Amino acid sequence: RLHYVVGTGRRGDFVFMSTYTLGVETSCDETSAAIVQDGITILSNIIASQIDCHKPFGGVVPEIASRKHLANVLPVIQKALDTAGLTLSEIDQIAVTCGPGLVGALLVGVTTAKAIAYARKLPLIPVNHIEGHIFANMLGRDAVSTPFLCLTVSGGHTDLLLVHKSGEYLHLGGTRDDAAGESLDKVARVLGLGYPGGPAIEQAALAGDPSAFDFPAVLSGQKTYDFSFSGLKTAAINLINHYRQVGQEIPIANLAAAFQKAVVDQLIDRTDKALHEYSPAALLLSGGVAANGTLRQEIVRLAERCGIEYYIPERVLCTDNAAMIASAGYHRSQMPGFEAADLTLNAYPDLPISGLIRRR
Ligand code: KG4
Ligand code: ZN
Repeated sequence: RLHYVVGTGRRGDFVFMSTYTLGVETSCDETSAAIVQDGITILSNIIASQIDCHKPFGGVVPEIASRKHLANVLPVIQKALDTAGLTLSEIDQIAVTCGPGLVGALLVGVTTAKAIAYARKLPLIPVNHIEGHIFANMLGRDAVSTPFLCLTVSGGHTDLLLVHKSGEYLHLGGTRDDAAGESLDKVARVLGLGYPGGPAIEQAALAGDPSAFDFPAVLSGQKTYDFSFSGLKTAAINLINHYRQVGQEIPIANLAAAFQKAVVDQLIDRTDKALHEYSPAALLLSGGVAANGTLRQEIVRLAERCGIEYYIPERVLCTDNAAMIASAGYHRSQMPGFEAADLTLNAYPDLPISGLIRRR
């Protein structure tokens, strides 16, 4: 083995061998492979985005996503190895997203990872995509204080989780209908801003006034940590249709700013309430929508107001990537009683996080 680390690192004053995890992520519209050392240090994180292929359709077309993953997955893995300066024989284990996500897209990553694991006799670690998003916060860090509260906001999920230790998740609340990212994507589409909608809304909102429209505060003041974005989305779409019907110009920037604010306000409202009820040691943000500047800013404000430690991944680690999958896989592999998956591993489109306890 070539790679030794010597010194007074976090493991003390002795010599140890690093573990290199190859992460593979193909759950939606990014083909990604990464090499992560000891679950923390990113040696490479290659992301082949399919945005341009799906743009003409205004959203992800599952069949196109699967075919693009198939074409890209091996070159992306090779590039991850080359960038890290490693060969497959120096990889210790493979972590792969096996759900939730698009079944055909997931199958490409799972099948590729199984083939490499079989050929190279490497342990195969199945990773839940949402758990991967949470572990984006561990990259580049020695540790995160526990218990922590984690707000995960992506295109398919909006969850508030309380985590006492890695692998044990108390689910405080989730969306009752659309995910936050999904509502941004749909409103952006009706506004003609294209796909993906979240970044487009953020861009358009820069020139807008968030107080120009008054969207309702959904489920606020109620005894729940759940979210709901479909009513907000419908209210925004009705407004847009109204402008179209009366032949008036749509105030795109103001609508984008006000809608973005309504989404962020709701996310902050539940997080604020949970911080007060559970008094965790830290607050974590994760998921694609965590790339949003307004949300990031409001989370920082909230954490500072509550005097609590907070962690927000850098933007590229918020949206889908394989480094977060490698990190989550590494941490799972270190848990007592961990057993690698065998070759019956499948893709699970609705996979819940294991160790998830529903509050209700
Ligand atoms: O985590 P992710 O990359 O994929 C899923 O697991 O769903 O999240 C994608 C979601 C999309 O809804 C996208 O519009 C949203 O994240 N998103 C953003 C931003 N960047 C991505 N939403 C708001 N502002 C952004 N800058
Ligand atoms: Zn994601």
